[in-house]
Amino acid sequence: MTLPYAKSDSYKIFNDIAGRYDLINTVLSGGLHRIWRRELRRKLHAMPDQLILDLATGTADVAIELTRDSRVDKVIGVDLSEGMIAIGQTKLHRLGLENRIQLQTGDAQKLSYKSNRFDAATMSFGIRNVPDVDACLSEIYRVLKPNGRALILEFALPRSRFVRSLHLFYLRNILPGIGRLLSGHGTAYTYLNQTIEEFPYGSNFVGLMAKAGFQNAGFQSLTFGIVNLYWGDKV
Ligand SMILES: C[S@@+](CC[C@H](N)C(=O)[O-])C[C@H]1O[C@@H](n2cnc3c(N)ncnc32)[C@H](O)[C@@H]1O
Repeated sequence: MTLPYAKSDSYKIFNDIAGRYDLINTVLSGGLHRIWRRELRRKLHAMPDQLILDLATGTADVAIELTRDSRVDKVIGVDLSEGMIAIGQTKLHRLGLENRIQLQTGDAQKLSYKSNRFDAATMSFGIRNVPDVDACLSEIYRVLKPNGRALILEFALPRSRFVRSLHLFYLRNILPGIGRLLSGHGTAYTYLNQTIEEFPYGSNFVGLMAKAGFQNAGFQSLTFGIVNLYWGDKV
């Protein structure tokens, strides 16, 4: 089934809902998004003074989480949605993190950074929204330094048939209604289940990472497999 909007326009939807995004995220994930981000942070390489690129940074929650690790020096967060970045910027100001996190507008498929610049690149619930996943993974690979690591969080479907059918019921029948109610937006959460169900996950996504050049690519299932954390290294 085709989406009623082009994926290249998905950032405009995030502009519309930016002010409510964090609240909706907390409600729809039951607060689990905090655990998922913490798991991502724990998979960073143990190197001092890291410069990290957080793609599709949204309201900067991953960037903020990364700065909890003292081995992280600075984070650059990039997103196409100026509305999401504006909310993120107010959070950085409130938390006094403006000297460690810089937010910029940009497209994850076509990065303006020079090659071999970052120690790690992260992307949380963003890659499902970009039209050209291969281009995005190639760009992540390009801007990483040798030994740099990519860490990607994305929705998946549980392996257990029972859990999977419960989760699909939630995604198809419950989540869109709550999302519509909280966001006041007709499209933002109505098609979330469709984008999740159609997106490659597990070993299929690991295959895409390997195709982009990543070594040691792998993944870990989180929360019964509703989310996967992927990693891969540039050697
Ligand atoms: C579901 S939000 C995730 C935000 C944040 N990473 C988090 O975990 O809460 C997806 C984000 O991807 C951004 N986005 C969509 N397409 C993009 C692209 N091509 N390049 C950069 N950001 C993009 C949207 O604007 C939105 O902020």
